[in-house]
Amino acid sequence: MQPNSRYQPSALSRRTFARIFAMGGSAALFAQSGAAWARPALQTTPAAPTEKFWAKVREQFVMPRDLAVMNAANLCPSPGSVLEAMYKNTQDMDRDPSFQNRVKMAHGKEETRRILAEFLRVSPEEIVLTRNTSEGNNLVSSGVDLKPGDEVLLFADNHPSNLAAWQEKSKRWGFSIRLVEQANPHPGFDYYIDAFRKAFTVRTRILAFTHLTSTVGDLFPAKELCRLARERDVLTLIDGAQSFGLLDTDLRDIQPDFYTGSAHKWPCGPKEVGVLYINRTAQPKIWASIISAMPGAIGISKTFEAFGQRDEPAIIGFAEALRFQTHIGSKIIEARARALTQMLIQGLQKIDGIKLWTSSDPSRAVAVASFLPGNHDILKLYAALYEKHHIACATRLGKDRPGLRFSPHFYNTQTEVERALSALGELMKAGG
Ligand SMILES: Cc1ncc(COP(=O)(O)O)c(C=O)c1O
Repeated sequence: MQPNSRYQPSALSRRTFARIFAMGGSAALFAQSGAAWARPALQTTPAAPTEKFWAKVREQFVMPRDLAVMNAANLCPSPGSVLEAMYKNTQDMDRDPSFQNRVKMAHGKEETRRILAEFLRVSPEEIVLTRNTSEGNNLVSSGVDLKPGDEVLLFADNHPSNLAAWQEKSKRWGFSIRLVEQANPHPGFDYYIDAFRKAFTVRTRILAFTHLTSTVGDLFPAKELCRLARERDVLTLIDGAQSFGLLDTDLRDIQPDFYTGSAHKWPCGPKEVGVLYINRTAQPKIWASIISAMPGAIGISKTFEAFGQRDEPAIIGFAEALRFQTHIGSKIIEARARALTQMLIQGLQKIDGIKLWTSSDPSRAVAVASFLPGNHDILKLYAALYEKHHIACATRLGKDRPGLRFSPHFYNTQTEVERALSALGELMKAGG
């Protein structure tokens, strides 16, 4: 958000702030902002959800109606129910921060673990509550015992937390890295299955890849790659930052050894909460990197999640975000994000001068769409979309498939996609 933006839904004007403060200081301030996120209960999802239903879903979020945010690959908003859970628990904790009162926070943390395990269809004993995907990826690259002579197999378009992190650690521990290069446009699952099959060697110890890339939204054949690795006794790390909360994900079926994700992306949860799944069979093969007090209560969390004091209200808010998604339905959310993205991609294909980096084939892409807007100035377009049309997206600068990135999610509407397409067409016609 820009400093002088008109889009500050929960910010209070100076006059309102002064009035509330005069009324009773911060308690009144919280009461005021509490009222701002209260939302009517969301009905049960109909068998065939209509735009009217999705408009009700949109109303669960505090974003102003005329702001269309299509940047889920970076950060998602939380619905009112998540804000409420965080607020209520933070207030409870700060009213009485005694150990006695905070016992229930530890129970809340375990309830989040249970719900998270159910969401990913694994057991709570395999769940570590982290801060984010970056931390999860690094706990794996620092925790797996590797030495000179060992090889790590990586996809070249992994996020830095799953690429640069391995490269840096290889200098310290002496293992080597083999890369499978990205291909653009996405050549299909078979291409990558073959490329990875050929890249394994007798020295490969772990394969780490991204389920859905953040750059251009390429979808990876996660289950097949995990099977190839398992057949060779190679561990697998799936970076799920762009699939967790978007794809209806069944880890029992995919069978990775490690899977990471962030609550604040597609699950629409609080910031700085994440997940690291550690398959029961991989648990004896990884060391804990952080050892402190206040571990989790069960399974791997007893030894791997002693991270010291946490923001438990945020962890409890994470459970609320997953309940919200489950209430709507994970399959329905995935279908909605896919449908909006297909609509977006088809519209982009009709705008003169646009070169799509993302495949229009739904077996290769989901809800991240990147494109080069001809020879228009990327930063100027990005700014004009936000300032003039109240449409938020991301830029991709540099030489690697530069341009703009749109990543719509279930809280966006068809009208917002239409608005984005027409704004883009108009701006490009007018020269940026
Ligand atoms: C594929 C991928 N992995 C990891 C991350 C890091 O996520 P976080 O910043 O939540 O740790 C991102 C962030 O965009 C990502 O796209």
